[in-house]
Amino acid sequence: MAAHVISLQDRKDLLKQNPIVIWFTGLSGSGKTTLSDALEKELFIRGFKTYILDGDKIRNGLCKDLGFSEDDRTENIRRVAEVAGLMMDSGLVVLSAFITPFEKDRGMIREMIGCENLIRVFVDCPLEICEQRDVKGLYKKARNGEIKKFTGISSPFEIPLESDLVLKTAEQSKETLVDILLDCVLPKICLNER
Ligand code: ADX
Repeated sequence: MAAHVISLQDRKDLLKQNPIVIWFTGLSGSGKTTLSDALEKELFIRGFKTYILDGDKIRNGLCKDLGFSEDDRTENIRRVAEVAGLMMDSGLVVLSAFITPFEKDRGMIREMIGCENLIRVFVDCPLEICEQRDVKGLYKKARNGEIKKFTGISSPFEIPLESDLVLKTAEQSKETLVDILLDCVLPKICLNER
């Protein structure tokens, strides 16, 4: 990390929080965006300074030059991890919601962010349920062949070998899962509890 005149400790003291990155991984339609939005709302209410990086948002901007080949997904995740790391250095609690289908890329995130600053959340929802929900109509297009290399259909999703939390969105309510998230996140971001 570059030396700053204003130290990370100064920023922590000003913002009254320990900055971390919470990284959600899971299939399209598994509930990453829903859970990260709901968690952010609860953190915001409690006075924490947060920011969400979300696949759908980032792929229209910072990463709009990238597609869905393995190399492009890796580059997408690398850029996002870089931005998440910078935001964390600025003092924020960062919520990142990306499919992140490859284990090697999850390893890269861990290297870049540091395991002590990272909470890895696997949003675990069976493909059949994501496909039934098909909120964006993309699974249908993937089955028709209109979209190539779609995660879960024609591109792999590697089950995470290690996660800090595994949240089963087909089995438990959003409220229950947000409570589980808060139990994990709050002790890490509250200054006096570390
Ligand atoms: S990742 O694989 O590089 O982590 P990311 O989370 O940024 O993916 O983007 C996933 C979103 O892009 C999906 O939720 C979906 O809306 C859209 N998308 C478009 N094409 C694909 C595809 N071939 N595979 C997966 N998602 C796709």
